Amino acid sequence: MFIYRGIYRILRTAANPNRCRWLYSSASHQQLSHYSRMTSPIATSYEVLGCRVNNSWISRHFSSGGPQPQYEGSSVDDPVDPFSLVADELSIVANRLRAMVVAEVPKLASAAEYFFKMGVEGKRFRPTVILLMATALNVQISKPASEGVVDMFPTELRMRQQSIAEITEMIHVASLLHDDVLDDADTRRGIGSLNFVMGNKISVLAGDFLLSRACITLASLKNTEVVSLIATAVEHLVTGETMQMSTSAEQRSSMDYYLQKTYYKTASLISNSCKSIFGYKKLQEVLQV
Ligand code: FPP
Ligand code: MG
Repeated sequence: MFIYRGIYRILRTAANPNRCRWLYSSASHQQLSHYSRMTSPIATSYEVLGCRVNNSWISRHFSSGGPQPQYEGSSVDDPVDPFSLVADELSIVANRLRAMVVAEVPKLASAAEYFFKMGVEGKRFRPTVILLMATALNVQISKPASEGVVDMFPTELRMRQQSIAEITEMIHVASLLHDDVLDDADTRRGIGSLNFVMGNKISVLAGDFLLSRACITLASLKNTEVVSLIATAVEHLVTGETMQMSTSAEQRSSMDYYLQKTYYKTASLISNSCKSIFGYKKLQEVLQV
């Protein structure tokens, strides 16, 4: 919940650039001054890749900062349900994930898709945080398109950010499949765990398969910085899990050890995925979208 509050704050802060100068690069600063020269009272509402955005050029909040997005049914002063901001996009991501985890061999196919079926997709916490982060950062890097319509979510950029959400979810589920084998778990997400239903061996292979599909998608992004960040997160997952299973009595009572282990096992994947989203700021500058 704290992460959601944090991102909600970023979204609010992004809506008022005076509160958040550190987020602007020199390039986006130029765009900002470009915005502040524009006073045209144009309001647009549109949907890009499942993401509905209203751009109001006349909002009192943005008088000095130019056009910024508002989300349907809310103003910047109202509390917003963070899930609702990306709900449509999350279902696009979920559908794409289902298509991505299809395997050639039937047994592997049913194991790999096990936690991507409708109803057992879990909270989708990571994709939600990543898409919210993308939304918050895209506000900063957007620039006006032709004829007064603000292209807040350039298709290419947003597609790549959605891919990072998909990669992260595949890695997360892969780690859970392996974790359930290590923990000898019998349930996961309210149903029988895969190791309990289909056995340890196929669970380990299904985890490897998901990891390899995540790698294929990662390679398709052709961004070595993002590859490095995500690979680091995978290394941290393994490190954290190993730290947990090999804790000495002394380490068990150390808060530093606990925090380090928890960062590796849980926080690093979220953190490095969000950093990858930020990495696309550079890509956007290169593409000039
Ligand atoms: C859940 O822990 C497990 C994790 C958050 C990560 C597990 C990581 C690995 C098994 C390393 C292998 C990684 C990959 C990418 C294949 P938990 O047992 O504390 O929580 P739970 O109650 O949800 O099982
Ligand atoms: Mg476990």
